[in-house]
Amino acid sequence: MKNTSTSSSYYFCKQCNYKTYQWFGKCPVCKTWNSVSKYTTINSAHAYRLKDIKIKQLSKYKTQINEFDNIMGGGIVPDSLILIGGAPGVGKSTLMLHIASKLSNLGLVLYVSGEESVLQIKSRATRIEISEQNIFLLSETNIYNIVNIICEMHPMFVIIDSIQTMYCQDFGTSSGTVIQIKEIATQLLQLAKTHNITIFILGHITKDGYLAGPKILEHVVDTVLYFENEKYNTYKILRVYKNRFGPTNEIGFFKMSSFGLSEVLDTSLIYYRDNNTINIAGNIVTVAIEGTRPIILEVQALTVKSEFSIPRRMSTGYDIKRIMILIAVIEKRLNIPINMHNIDIFINIASGIKIKETAIDAAIVSAIISAILEFICPKDIIICGELGLSGEIRPISFITKRLLEAEKLGFKKAIIPIGNLNNITYTGKMAILEAKDISTMLQFIK
Ligand code: TYD
Ligand code: MG
Repeated sequence: MKNTSTSSSYYFCKQCNYKTYQWFGKCPVCKTWNSVSKYTTINSAHAYRLKDIKIKQLSKYKTQINEFDNIMGGGIVPDSLILIGGAPGVGKSTLMLHIASKLSNLGLVLYVSGEESVLQIKSRATRIEISEQNIFLLSETNIYNIVNIICEMHPMFVIIDSIQTMYCQDFGTSSGTVIQIKEIATQLLQLAKTHNITIFILGHITKDGYLAGPKILEHVVDTVLYFENEKYNTYKILRVYKNRFGPTNEIGFFKMSSFGLSEVLDTSLIYYRDNNTINIAGNIVTVAIEGTRPIILEVQALTVKSEFSIPRRMSTGYDIKRIMILIAVIEKRLNIPINMHNIDIFINIASGIKIKETAIDAAIVSAIISAILEFICPKDIIICGELGLSGEIRPISFITKRLLEAEKLGFKKAIIPIGNLNNITYTGKMAILEAKDISTMLQFIK
């Protein structure tokens, strides 16, 4: 081990805070005499041999809310700084009260709100039946007052609701600005690490995710969670965007009711209700994977005669640029007796979830063709696969997991990429139809 301790000094004016490395009798800025003071900083840096470093096995704090503990990789890492972002009204404060209630069984929880009075928080807590002894409420926005109270109380957990309302007087700007948010987050980070406190920071983001707020904090904190939902949807998704201590992109499902949030365990039932819409041309069922969870989804395509020189292509829930490519592949690789330039195409992933993975390409393409040619796909088939530019159906990940979920919901047949046959461990009852390309896939469903 090598010790490289260094120290450095500078002089500053007690009157105007002017800093310099040279002593002065009269401050060159504010012209005050004898206002000089010396400041010495000691930096000690150590290099450690990798082999000699011992890892302390910390047990994680469990909230016993499974959807939360699971996405956190088994629980909350002690002394970590966790950011929970989301649009206003999505349910961040409600979620934090539920988590506070569980964590208060492990130690003292301090809930700091810059948005609501303690009475308002109390009335929400009453509504969702939370009344634990170990939860303290503080309505305050001045970060120095908050830090003082934290140092006095020594809570185990602190919740800051929200970072945009907090204020540090050293930075003359109003609360919510980039400089305020960064400074306050840095102070909270130090507090978490030096006083062994686990801190949750709540932050608002706009619908498109862009706001000088949570986004600029992503690199400061240990874990970033985003709470998402579609407007008017009672189901909410808590997504892990960054985690220093566990997997990312994992999601947890919650449902908001008049008694607060509850966990949703059977997620496929949210997005796929066994209704009659799949008996209509243009509707196809597929299995997507979000994080590590399979979700049965209904893909809907609607095609109408276009009244415009450039036909419309619109999508809810799937990347529109990807859809343009898929339409080009249909046009080039399939002999459809219809001119695609004369029709508007609308795509919708039912129930408002957004899917990023390309494994539902085959379902999107089938939905478009089914809508154009006006045939109904058999009700008991699910379709999975990625589409290549040559019209080939390409293999996808987690094929067995997808098939098991489809079987659970009563599907009888699955169309999957031929390339997945060598890594499939599915031994269930569904008939497996292997598609080589877009044409063979169509033969199975027409
Ligand atoms: P809230 O947690 O205040 O959202 P955020 O902190 O993200 O701004 O709650 C959002 C909405 O949830 C609010 O419009 C009211 C509703 N709600 C319920 O439907 N049931 C409940 O039990 C609670 C507490 C809130
Ligand atoms: Mg709130």
